[in-house]
Amino acid sequence: MIKQAIIPLAGLGTRLLPLTSVFAKELLPINGKPGIEYILDECIDAGISEIIFIISKKKEMIRKYFYNDKLYKTLIKKKKDPRIIKEYKKILKYKKKIKFVYQNKPLGTGNAVLKTKKFIKNKYFLMLLPDDLIMRRNCSKDMIKLHKKYKASVMASMTVNKNNVNRWGIYSSSKKLNNQNFIISDVIEKPNTKDAPSNNAVIGRYILSNNIFKILKKQKKGKGGEIHITDSIKTMIDNKSLFIGHKFSGKYLDCGSMSGYINSTLQIAKL
Ligand code: UTP
Repeated sequence: MIKQAIIPLAGLGTRLLPLTSVFAKELLPINGKPGIEYILDECIDAGISEIIFIISKKKEMIRKYFYNDKLYKTLIKKKKDPRIIKEYKKILKYKKKIKFVYQNKPLGTGNAVLKTKKFIKNKYFLMLLPDDLIMRRNCSKDMIKLHKKYKASVMASMTVNKNNVNRWGIYSSSKKLNNQNFIISDVIEKPNTKDAPSNNAVIGRYILSNNIFKILKKQKKGKGGEIHITDSIKTMIDNKSLFIGHKFSGKYLDCGSMSGYINSTLQIAKL
């Protein structure tokens, strides 16, 4: 059973400057709702009961957002506004499920994941990258179903423009399971166009096994001097762990870049 999800939130968000100079990008509103709430709703709807946020001291405001009970209680007493009561209940629901761990130096996604090692209770867990919103269909739920069937790790995937492969982890597949699902034979972090084995990119939803922690402990720095989760996943694939690429059917929105963030608001408003 996959009951725990982890969400790395300790990055600097430089692509969204100046919005992120004092503000956590995951709390920026997308059509009137902080981006992170779309991710939380996806987790809860997929049956996740515990969500581990990896934050940093600089992003303490994320923890405060879920712990601002006093303000709500005072307002509710004074105003009895049904909208505020509803929002407060929603925040309480999230708060009950969230745990916080800290990564104070942004050494990379792999290092962020390693911080959750002692909190993971089962063999498999879900990881979501909050910059990647997938709307209209619950990608995590579909991936959990797939995991149950094949007892494998799963990564969400989509085809990207060949000229943009250097923005993503890119994989090659050895076998087609059906139109949406593939066995992954290799993955490479942010390759050049000429080194890319395909234009199939890994998108920010992963089902990983706790075996990844052993590998992460020894993981050396990769592209850009960071410790990448993709490099440890590559080692697992080389060691014959089964990884499935799942071409999701929802609508993908990239909220991590300025143009993507602006576009997300416009797109969600239309849904
Ligand atoms: P990215 O590297 O894509 O985004 O990390 P970033 O660092 O937040 O933003 P830019 O690139 O400077 O604009 C992908 C995800 O991993 C988290 C980020 O918070 C983001 O959700 N992350 C990244 C960590 O938690 N720790 C890290 O050391 C690096």
